[in-house]
Amino acid sequence: MTPTLHTERLTLRPLREEDAPFVEKLASDRLIADTTLLIPHPYPEGEARNWIIRSKKKAEQQEAYTFAITDKQTGEIIGTYTLKLELLHQKAELGYWIGVPFWGKGYMTEVTKRMIQYGFDELGLNKIHASALARNPASTNIMKKCGMSYEGTFKHHIFKWGQPEDSEFYAILKEEYAEMKKTQSSITS
Ligand SMILES: CC(C)(COP(=O)(O)OP(=O)(O)OC[C@H]1O[C@@H](n2cnc3c(N)ncnc32)[C@H](O)[C@@H]1OP(=O)(O)O)[C@@H](O)C(=O)NCCC(=O)NCCS
Repeated sequence: MTPTLHTERLTLRPLREEDAPFVEKLASDRLIADTTLLIPHPYPEGEARNWIIRSKKKAEQQEAYTFAITDKQTGEIIGTYTLKLELLHQKAELGYWIGVPFWGKGYMTEVTKRMIQYGFDELGLNKIHASALARNPASTNIMKKCGMSYEGTFKHHIFKWGQPEDSEFYAILKEEYAEMKKTQSSITS
């Protein structure tokens, strides 16, 4: 089941049906659909609730854990995060968005670091990967800042707003994460 995780400023917890109006409000912004692959625009009424119900089933079947990203102090939902599991291959894919009013505060970097830690230390994964449209440097910056390495670009991998777009792939392996942890602890000690 989807756990509850904490970072310095945020709490990641399982999504609940009553979160739907807040998710819908943030996800309705065209800027969220613009660089994600599955979020529709215009965002249909009721879609958030249906998505939360589908997400719950996926968590029960260990296919994906979807979290509400919430402000630790106020409980306000600021975005969502999905860890799509492929346990046969001991790997997971990251997928995330954060509401436009909360951009540029380092929140997604903070959450992604915690999600990578969770994937390796608590789920015992071997690889964590993600992709972003080539024109989405905010997302690729997050991946780089979290220790993920560039694996390549797939040309015209996605159709967005009727146009083909390139996707950039990033990943981190278990041994790279272990090395990163060692380096960080030697810097802080
Ligand atoms: C991408 C997204 C998750 C970033 O969230 P965020 O909380 O604002 O990200 P952070 O503040 O943690 O980090 C973003 C980094 O990219 C940098 N950045 C932002 N826009 C940039 C741009 N246009 N060019 C270069 N760098 C950029 C920021 O400066 C920051 O780096 P820094 O901390 O070194 O300054 C958010 O913009 C979003 O949800 N976008 C819509 C959905 C989406 O694209 N999801 C990802 C799909 S792969």
